[in-house]
Amino acid sequence: MNDPITRVLDELRHECTRDAEPGRVADYIPELTHADPEAFGIVLESHDGDVYAAGDADVEFTIQSISKPFVYALAVEALGVEAVDARVGAEPSGEPFNAISLEPGTGRPANPLVNAGAILTTSLVPGGFDRIAEGLSAFAGHTLAVDDAVHASERETGDRNIAIAHLMRAAGALEGDVHAVVDDYFRQCSLIVTARDLAYMAATLANAGRDPATDAPVVSELTVQHTLSVMATCGMYDGAGEWMLHVGLPAKSGVSGGVLAVSPGQFGIGLYSPPLDARGNSVRAVLACERLAARFGLHIF
Ligand code: DON
Repeated sequence: MNDPITRVLDELRHECTRDAEPGRVADYIPELTHADPEAFGIVLESHDGDVYAAGDADVEFTIQSISKPFVYALAVEALGVEAVDARVGAEPSGEPFNAISLEPGTGRPANPLVNAGAILTTSLVPGGFDRIAEGLSAFAGHTLAVDDAVHASERETGDRNIAIAHLMRAAGALEGDVHAVVDDYFRQCSLIVTARDLAYMAATLANAGRDPATDAPVVSELTVQHTLSVMATCGMYDGAGEWMLHVGLPAKSGVSGGVLAVSPGQFGIGLYSPPLDARGNSVRAVLACERLAARFGLHIF
C-alpha cells in the first residue's frame, strides 16, 4: 500500500463509507440479500495492466447489468453496428432499468442497457450463452463461472423480464424461444466477478479492445467505440445524465453493487459496494467515482 495510487483509493474508500447516503442492498432477487453491506473494494487497472487495489477487491458477486455492454459488444462484433441498431435502439430511455421501454408498434427496445434491450441483445449473439460466457471471460482475462443459486433465484422472480420478452416477441422484435433467451440473460447476469475482474474488463475497453496484460485482441477498436458510446449515454439508467455531469466517464452499474468506469486510452476502474440508491446504482461507488474524477480531472470533456 505504499504507492500513491493505492493510497488514494484507500482514502476514498474510507471517506465514502463515512459520507455516502446509507442506500439499500437489492432484495428483489432474494439471493442478492446475502451480500455484506460493508464490503467495499476499488480497483484501478491501467490500459497496459498495472493494477492498484484497495479494500475488498476479491469479494465475489454476480455481474448483473454490468454484463450488458459486454454482450452488446459481442453482438456488434459479430453482426456489425447497423444490424444491431436495426433491432435495438441507442437512445437513453430516462426510465428505470426494468421499464417496458419499447418503441410503439415495432417493439424495438430503447437501448441495449435497459432490461428489454439487453434481453434482445442477448438473443442476437450467435452461439448463445456459451459464446457470451466465453466472450465475457475474454474481457476479464480468465474463465468466469455462473452462480447457480443466483441464477435459480433470478428465474423464480423473473416474471417482469419474461413478460417484457413476450411483449417484444408479440411485436415481432424478438425472435426465438422467449424462455430460452431469458434464461440465457439470467445466466449472463449470474456470472461471478470481483472488483478486480471489473477493473480488468474496463481496462480491456480502455485499451481499445485488447487484453491489458497480453495485448491480445478481444474485440475491435470500432466495437469499443460503439460500446463506450452507449455506456456514456445509457450506462447509469435514469442517473446517466447526472453521472455524466459529475463523473464524465462511460460506465455501467449493476444491482449487486458493482460499478465499472472507463477512461479511454488510460485505465479502467472496478468498484463493489452493495447498498444502492433509488435508481439501482451503488451509493458508495458512485460517490467514489465523483471524487476520483474531480480530484484527477478525469472528465472526458
Ligand atoms: O434483469 C434483472 O433484473 C437483473 N438480473 C439485472 C438487473 C441489473 O443489474 C439492473 N441494474 N441496476
